Amino acid sequence: MRMPLIAGNWKMNGDVAGVEKFADEFEISQDIIEKRQMAICPPLTLMSAWRAAAESKPHIKLGAQNAHWKSSGAYTGEVSPGMLKEAGCWCCIVGHSERRQYFGENDADVNKKMNALLDAGLVPIVCVGETLEEREAGKMEQVITTQVSGSVLASADRGDLSVIVVAYEPVWAIGTGKTATSDQAQEVCGLIRKLLSDKLGAASADAIRILYGGSVKPDNMSELMSKPDIDGGLVGGASLKASDFMGIVGYKE
Ligand code: PGA
Repeated sequence: MRMPLIAGNWKMNGDVAGVEKFADEFEISQDIIEKRQMAICPPLTLMSAWRAAAESKPHIKLGAQNAHWKSSGAYTGEVSPGMLKEAGCWCCIVGHSERRQYFGENDADVNKKMNALLDAGLVPIVCVGETLEEREAGKMEQVITTQVSGSVLASADRGDLSVIVVAYEPVWAIGTGKTATSDQAQEVCGLIRKLLSDKLGAASADAIRILYGGSVKPDNMSELMSKPDIDGGLVGGASLKASDFMGIVGYKE
């Protein structure tokens, strides 16, 4: 049984006052806390404010949005997985389409980051997803297969991949208000599970959580979660407001 995970990606948004307001307003029942995992990935500069503000809410785990693959050294502007761990992080997003698009990250980079995060004891949330042009050209399956192979399965011989999380985020659905239908999301999440199973075996593939991301809102989460291969959500815009995130985390089964 895979425990659902809902992770909020604040991207380059928020401030200390917003962190305090969010932590203050976020209230969720004990029942939900016991059956769902939740994380917020704020900008690095807000992490200590987050830890202070959410001290009484340890069920909201802390996450990062990116990491370098080296543990230390002359890499100006970068932060290592070990540093994130020390800052209190539990998970870290890697390979988000915005990093692939604006910062030139490729599958090999994403794979190095995933390995470094695992080595540091963090949960990597590895993002994959096709663009609208790729989908319309009939290349979705090819793109997803290439990304999953290069970003994740290149490390198939590690033996500890069952703890990772894969997020399917169609680029055309991110920040556009255009959610993939639950059938479209299931089709790709099912494909991802099959790719994982073919290489890692059914037991590992069954343990790995696959999230959907792209315009997730309180009113579409239940429908997405009714699909067999969708184990949670990676939420951008709607994770910035406590009431929206509460609605998503508290979706009806
Ligand atoms: P969105 O972003 O929910 O605002 O579409 C999702 C993401 O980029 O992770």
